[in-house]
Amino acid sequence: MVIPDNSMPSDNSMQFAYWNGATGQLWADEQLRIDRRLGELSSAVMALAAAKSGERVLDIGCGCGTTTLELATHVGPDGSVTGVDISAPMLAVAASRNRAHNVTFVEADAATFAFDRDRDLIFSRFGVMFFADPIGAFTNIRTALATGGRLAFVCWRPMIDNAWAATPFEAAKHLIPANTPLPILDPFAPGPFAFGDSGRTSSMLEAAGFTNVVVDPLDSTMFLGETLEEAADAAFEVGPLARAMAGADESTRHSARRAVLASLSESLTTDGVSLPAACWLVSATG
Ligand SMILES: C[S@@+](CC[C@H](N)C(=O)[O-])C[C@H]1O[C@@H](n2cnc3c(N)ncnc32)[C@H](O)[C@@H]1O
Repeated sequence: MVIPDNSMPSDNSMQFAYWNGATGQLWADEQLRIDRRLGELSSAVMALAAAKSGERVLDIGCGCGTTTLELATHVGPDGSVTGVDISAPMLAVAASRNRAHNVTFVEADAATFAFDRDRDLIFSRFGVMFFADPIGAFTNIRTALATGGRLAFVCWRPMIDNAWAATPFEAAKHLIPANTPLPILDPFAPGPFAFGDSGRTSSMLEAAGFTNVVVDPLDSTMFLGETLEEAADAAFEVGPLARAMAGADESTRHSARRAVLASLSESLTTDGVSLPAACWLVSATG
């Protein structure tokens, strides 16, 4: 039996453990492949954010620093970018890639970190859906904005609209080990799909003090791999199945992989495997 996770702590300690454990290490090891998968979605949120020369930017949940480093090229030498994350392994990758003088990485919980009030833009690519107390976290994050500053981030719509996540999950969910805590059964629990309800996300941001909140749908695709095998790897690296199978034994993972391969086979084309990805592009002013 898969159980809803009713034991969520009221702080971000569970996410801290998650992103500093096997998952954080996996994201660190697979940074290139993960970035490739997120490429189209990344371009969309970069366009929304429209970082300009000389701006000071904060990248929340910056992970391995890909968007932080890209933002630095947009703001140029007169601007600066700070990436904030709780994951030591991902930040280690970010730091090792950094050649820019105007980029800083900070290991901290964005929900509570004491920000200077000097940012023109707060940005995030899928790094803001993991807070135990989202209104409290965004109230704190807003303190980083200088007068007239803005917020721009991309987050997922519900899992059911995201075939890249739903297809492998549905195919293997009968194999998820008993007593696996699955926050996914609570649509608002901290996790990738926590901001799936656009009305709730708008209300939370307004409650945190943001104004002019706009939440627009983005319909795109996620490239999972050139081969079926690569696409199956993706299902065990990111998304709800990866989370659910993290503690599974080898034999269960093997069975799950076979189920996932079968489920993805009908999406294989000569260009590889791509599946629908549904996001919200969110913007606001501070
Ligand atoms: C789905 S990953 C996205 C990483 C990166 N933005 C990217 O697109 O590659 C979510 C990131 O949010 C970070 N994160 C989760 N909770 C956080 C918090 N409270 N403060 C800062 N970062 C957090 C995780 O460590 C992880 O790096």
